[in-house]
Amino acid sequence: MASAPGVCVCRLRRKNLPLLYNRVMRVLVGVSGGIAAYKAAELVRALQRQSAEVRVVMTAAAQRFVQPLTFAALTGHRVYAGLWDEPSPDDAAPGQSGIDHIAEAQWADALVVAPATANILAKFAHGIADDFLSTLYLAVTAPVLVAPAMNVNMWHHPATQANLEILRQRGVRVVEPGTGGLACGMVGAGRMAEPESIAAVVLSALHHRRDFAGETVLVTAGGTREAIDPVRFLGNGSSGKMGYALADAAQSRGASVILVSGPTALYAPARCELVKVTTAEEMRAAVLERAAGATLVIKAAAVADYRPLAVSGHKLRREGPLTLELTPTEDILAEVVRRRRPGQLIVGFAAETENQMENGRAKLLRKGADAIVVNNAAGEHVGIDSDTNAATFLTPTTAIELPLMPKRQLADRILDEILALRRPRPVVIELDGREVPQTRNQADERARVQEEETIAAARARRRLIVE
Ligand SMILES: Cc1cc2nc3c(=O)[nH]c(=O)nc-3n(C[C@H](O)[C@H](O)[C@H](O)COP(=O)(O)O)c2cc1C
Repeated sequence: MASAPGVCVCRLRRKNLPLLYNRVMRVLVGVSGGIAAYKAAELVRALQRQSAEVRVVMTAAAQRFVQPLTFAALTGHRVYAGLWDEPSPDDAAPGQSGIDHIAEAQWADALVVAPATANILAKFAHGIADDFLSTLYLAVTAPVLVAPAMNVNMWHHPATQANLEILRQRGVRVVEPGTGGLACGMVGAGRMAEPESIAAVVLSALHHRRDFAGETVLVTAGGTREAIDPVRFLGNGSSGKMGYALADAAQSRGASVILVSGPTALYAPARCELVKVTTAEEMRAAVLERAAGATLVIKAAAVADYRPLAVSGHKLRREGPLTLELTPTEDILAEVVRRRRPGQLIVGFAAETENQMENGRAKLLRKGADAIVVNNAAGEHVGIDSDTNAATFLTPTTAIELPLMPKRQLADRILDEILALRRPRPVVIELDGREVPQTRNQADERARVQEEETIAAARARRRLIVE
């Protein structure tokens, strides 16, 4: 075993941990040999903050970057590394194997490998089992997630992409890396997703929330492109990350998802219906054709408001000043609202650069949507193309602040607020000049109070354990 000699590893007392379903979630974190290995420690903490019991498996290369002691101290459990280390029969729960890599595979409710090197992805894809982690992977029947991290050229290499495709087809969830400055000094895709985002995807994969089961969610994502001539277009910087995160979150919470997407560099979540479009008009047609089948429509796409009135049939040459005449595109959100089917929820997005609340509220009232997610399109770390975002979830009667967080996490928070729209709302009546909230249904109110008390108690217990 890889726990450092002489290190006292205190075991977590499971009976003190908050329960989800009928026991705590058990997450196995695999760490392979990339520079981002140090971030796996943050992932362990993020999972523990969510009440998960965590154990760690490291490859030999990973131990070149981070000491197993770090993870042993964080998890209160020894770190698995070598296939040939002494087995530990006392760790195996009743009914589990006494062989460590099999016992750990049986123990886990989810395996998440972060960072996942090009090498471990290749081994997983091709069934190579030559160390603890790759052998354990073949024995795991629980959901598997990988968070790749590598140099941009390694990421784009056809071998890596082919291996990822094999894994996706097999149901492995790939937590896509971000784009930006990499440890190797290059700029591009390959930076491991933020630990909080990975933890949010793990929790979703554990299906501890199936609260969107039975819903059909239509999400629009990305920007649209309006042709000027055969090679140029009017577009915007939307990356599609927010819409794709919403699609992923809704799907992992049990929804059937239709994703109508403008051009992006992202991979759609496996099993969702992906409809690729380019122009605002194509997006309109795709959305209107499918909206009637959706119980929830979330319009996160950055759709062009204008398109050139005439498209040149040939490439325009630089011949002095050029004036483009633009004409407004169709308002898809307003049209979806007009055709709303009974019980359907419709949520829009508003990316604003000024007077966010006023503009957001005006848009909400003008369009008649159930809610508008307002975000600042011009701030730092927020909005278009950023990996993180902050927003306000605006309904006709409430404004809920959603602070800066990874977009995948924000997606879950937005879905939480959307679900709340389906619950009976308090009715506020005037009584002697005072506003008194009344609930429509006492049984619902009792259930709500009970739910809040349970959550508060669980949070208090979690604080005791994790902090
Ligand atoms: C300094 C250094 C940094 C590395 N960073 C990465 C990385 O970020 N991603 C990656 O896929 N491989 C990276 N490698 C290469 C892997 O460590 C190498 O492919 C190794 O065989 C991976 O083994 P493992 O998958 O069993 O952990 C790096 C190597 C070195 C020496």
